[in-house]
Amino acid sequence: MKKMFLFGLFTIASVFGLQSFGDNNGSKPTIQVDTVCFSRDVLPILNSNCAMSNCHDAISHKDNYILTSYAGIVKGVSPGSSATSKIYNQIVNNKMPENPYKKLTTEQKAIIKNWIDQGAKNTTCVVTNCDSVNVSFSTIKPIITNNCLGCHNGATAFAGIDLSTDQNIEDLKDLILCTIIHATDCKPMPSNGLSLTNCDKSMVNRWVQLSSTGNIQSGEQIVRSFNVTPNHVTESAVIHFQLDKRQSVMMSLYSYDGRKIRTISTGDYSEGNHELPFLANSLSSGVYFIRIQVGNSIQSLMFTH
Ligand code: HEC
Repeated sequence: MKKMFLFGLFTIASVFGLQSFGDNNGSKPTIQVDTVCFSRDVLPILNSNCAMSNCHDAISHKDNYILTSYAGIVKGVSPGSSATSKIYNQIVNNKMPENPYKKLTTEQKAIIKNWIDQGAKNTTCVVTNCDSVNVSFSTIKPIITNNCLGCHNGATAFAGIDLSTDQNIEDLKDLILCTIIHATDCKPMPSNGLSLTNCDKSMVNRWVQLSSTGNIQSGEQIVRSFNVTPNHVTESAVIHFQLDKRQSVMMSLYSYDGRKIRTISTGDYSEGNHELPFLANSLSSGVYFIRIQVGNSIQSLMFTH
């Protein structure tokens, strides 16, 4: 009974917190409380808690288990029966993850159990009503807990990155954003070739932008006051920047994974403030960045669409 209650609480929390089905356009949010979705709910938990190097990643594949994909995970599962599933038994009895790795939480165990009992299907879910505008720390925390914490907690902090405290998540937010959008200046996370959903990326991006400039910069800062308004762009926006003297400027649009989409503007701009109109209506929804380059100085500004 207690378990059921806890799980109930969690599913409600995940609908309003992790998933944050927003109500952007006044429509009623769609809530599917019961169905566990493999790619969104199960894979990140097993990847981050079991597929670290030395354990069940593709290189180490301990006991022949590679827990970074559906094919590898389903080998340790009896669809429809958590009770006879090897992976679930190891987890529920706290045999795995082995010490010193963090055990799974009650909520995470319940997700794995429900997924197996529901037939252990290879499901992907499309988040149709992603609210990447009304974002706060409590929206971000479950994303980190389920996708990152297994490899980045106090006892097991790969690369010295410990994301087990709220303060550390706050302090490292620019680097976290850099890793999850697979920007070129940092290592792509969450490791093993996986990616967060576009919705999760947009939410983290928005959260970082709310509390900082959202700028990634390399080289001397030549361009000032670089920003885009609004920074959740629906159709059109205005890009602002300021120069201390006349400069030759190159501005381009990039996808979150670093592909150049188009040149926005190139040419000489005079000293002072500039505003450029920007149309986003041909873009699919997701995270993008605008890169402005003057000589060796580059700044990238992220926005969501
Ligand atoms: C399966 C284990 C694993 C998972 C899951 C994982 N990481 Fe990592 N992380 C690593 C390892 C290993 C490194 C060191 C990478 C290297 O040096 O090649 C690392 C490095 C990092 C770094 C430092 C990057 C840099 O360029 O200095 C950050 C920040 C980070 N991870 C954040 C995250 C975030 C955020 C998540 C969740 C979205 C995550 N990690 C999920 C294993 C993991």
